[in-house]
Amino acid sequence: MRAWKSHSYEKLSILTDYLEVFAKASSSAANRVYLDAFAGETLNRIAGTDRTFPGSAETALEVKPPFTHVRLFELARKRVGELSELVADRPNARVVHGDCNVTIPAALTSLPMKAPTFAFLDPDGMELDWATVRALADHKRAYAEEFDKSKVEMWILFSTSGMVRMLGKNREAVGENRLLDKAARLYGASGPLERVWEAKLAGEITGGEAQKAYLFLYMDRLADLGYQHLLVRPIHGSRGELYAMVFASDHPAGANIMQWAQERDRVRPRADTLFDVPEPRPAYEDLHTGWRNEFPIELPTWTELA
Ligand SMILES: C[S@@+](CC[C@H](N)C(=O)[O-])C[C@H]1O[C@@H](n2cnc3c(N)ncnc32)[C@H](O)[C@@H]1O
Repeated sequence: MRAWKSHSYEKLSILTDYLEVFAKASSSAANRVYLDAFAGETLNRIAGTDRTFPGSAETALEVKPPFTHVRLFELARKRVGELSELVADRPNARVVHGDCNVTIPAALTSLPMKAPTFAFLDPDGMELDWATVRALADHKRAYAEEFDKSKVEMWILFSTSGMVRMLGKNREAVGENRLLDKAARLYGASGPLERVWEAKLAGEITGGEAQKAYLFLYMDRLADLGYQHLLVRPIHGSRGELYAMVFASDHPAGANIMQWAQERDRVRPRADTLFDVPEPRPAYEDLHTGWRNEFPIELPTWTELA
């Protein structure tokens, strides 16, 4: 069992709300697909307490009406064992062991192309390759474009604090460890990313501006994949923003449901409180649209990675 701070519980409770409505809204479809690229543990605990909560895999398995196809991708052998026990009597679900950047493209070939499909991409840090995001976006692309349907919907953890930590090291460490190359793998392209990094080093922009730019550049890449609706929900720990949950969909209803789930008052259980009190959430603001117009420096166009 893994111990998490309460922000992880918050993330999963947004996921629960979203999936319940997603499943009902798509209940007339012959199939519904749930993909969990970083499926994790079956049971989680809120750090400092003995309170447990189900992981994303179990959350998705409990949704009604059930997904017709559930694929749980996980690298850690022990977690694969636990997940396999969880799905033992569920013919609709399979666990796929290995690096999801390798296993997802292969798994997509056997999944129904017309099904409403939701992918939860929840890495610990920088493990999600852009090639995997692109493979997911391309999975239903031809069908979606011909019949005016939606591509795979995605909810992605983008580690803003991880980016800042990685690229905030001194110039030598970034160069020696090829950290810009590592970051570019996350975006599948280079150019603007490196310019933001240089601008931060040169004092042309602040650390906060660089952090926002790393996130918005990622959302630009999702927009370039043709996604019509992008939402972003920063998630904070006690010392500021940890990561942002980015939602990409072609469906206005999907965006409305996620917006509702993000804004809903919800309890964030904490170790040091006696009672659980629902906390109001800030109203959604579209932070991404037009961000480049406000940004202090010009950014070059992307060069796709080979
Ligand atoms: C943040 S946890 C996932 C938590 C889970 N989604 C939940 O909400 O309950 C990330 C998980 O991804 C797994 N992981 C890391 N790299 C991976 C990779 N390349 N492919 C598949 N799983 C990976 C880790 O072992 C870990 O269990």
